[in-house]
Amino acid sequence: MYNSEIIGCGMYVPERVVTNHDLSKIMDTTHDWIVQRSGIEERRWVSPETSTSDLALIACEQAIKNAGIDKSEIDCLLFATISPDHDFPGNACFLQPKLGLTDIPAIDVRQQCSGFIYGMSIADAFIKSGQYKTILLVGAEVHSKGMDISTKGRDVAVLFGDGAGAVVIRRTEVKDHAKSSHIMSTHLFSEGSNAKALWGAAPGSGLGTVDRINNLHLEEGLQYPSMNGKKVFANAVRRMCECLMLALETNKVKLEDIDLFLFHQANLRINQMLAQELKIPEEKIFNTIMKYGNTTAATIPIGMTEAVKAGKLKKGTLVASAAFGSGFTWASSVYRW
Ligand SMILES: CC(C)(COP(=O)(O)OP(=O)(O)OC[C@H]1O[C@@H](n2cnc3c(N)ncnc32)[C@H](O)[C@@H]1OP(=O)(O)O)[C@@H](O)C(=O)NCCC(=O)NCCS
Repeated sequence: MYNSEIIGCGMYVPERVVTNHDLSKIMDTTHDWIVQRSGIEERRWVSPETSTSDLALIACEQAIKNAGIDKSEIDCLLFATISPDHDFPGNACFLQPKLGLTDIPAIDVRQQCSGFIYGMSIADAFIKSGQYKTILLVGAEVHSKGMDISTKGRDVAVLFGDGAGAVVIRRTEVKDHAKSSHIMSTHLFSEGSNAKALWGAAPGSGLGTVDRINNLHLEEGLQYPSMNGKKVFANAVRRMCECLMLALETNKVKLEDIDLFLFHQANLRINQMLAQELKIPEEKIFNTIMKYGNTTAATIPIGMTEAVKAGKLKKGTLVASAAFGSGFTWASSVYRW
């Protein structure tokens, strides 16, 4: 059977830095409230003319360069996002021509904050089956254009930011499963009965109205995300712990064998509780939330790229990732870089 390996990564965040102080000028919030509850100090927001696929393009070009491949080698494009350029078609279709690619499958993954690990799992399975050989997986989000940035939406608006991260995943030969660079496992989960604990209701055919979106929906603010923060928080800690432990058991590796933990970045407190619960030394966890907020599907590949730059992620590093998000969905992966 074939195996897959991450051979390159890249990221891009918009230049515009939005600090907590900036937010406190447009909504009733404070720097201290945001930092104490979430660890976030600033995030990036795009300019009006920039779309999600524009951010993705830059991250992808970097990842292709970093992988040292020619883009013509890419035989499948996967795009994880919940904030696409348009309602349809999927965002991979908008990105593909920008990358100068054609004909190859362009597939969207819609698993929110777990989207990147779901994408890794899909890429790994495609490669293991022999169907594709070199897959470009990107996670990108433009949240700033889709949130209620008034006081009404402050519980959500302070948490999310814009950004993109991409990886090239390629077929590899694994000589030694304990030592060779490859994706060792992915585990995916969901619990749809909690779908409305963090969701965007409109536009949608489930609203009981003739139109997927109308003025009444807009007046009610149904186009904005809504969240039960406490429920999301409690479930994130529990589910990320569970799926991480399962990943370690599956690979017969101990927690102390993992060199680097690259978790989703929803809230610094979630990751600190995870560390406390599992007794992970904080220096083994690579956090980026302070600078970027929650960039949903882009978070983990942004973390990968920054960890490489920081010298914390190198050839041979054993990494564990876990994510939790809307759906509820959650996922984990263990991989050797
Ligand atoms: C959102 C979150 C930070 C809120 O923290 P919390 O401790 O649960 O805070 P609460 O919801 O109890 O709100 C406390 C108070 O702060 C207020 N508040 C909410 N957002 C605020 C903001 N940005 N600034 C100031 N006050 C705010 C609330 O209105 C509430 O006021 P009240 O007590 O007068 O009603 C936290 O629940 C969280 O991080 N949840 C998980 C979110 C997440 O991970 N989402 C993405 C998953 S992928």
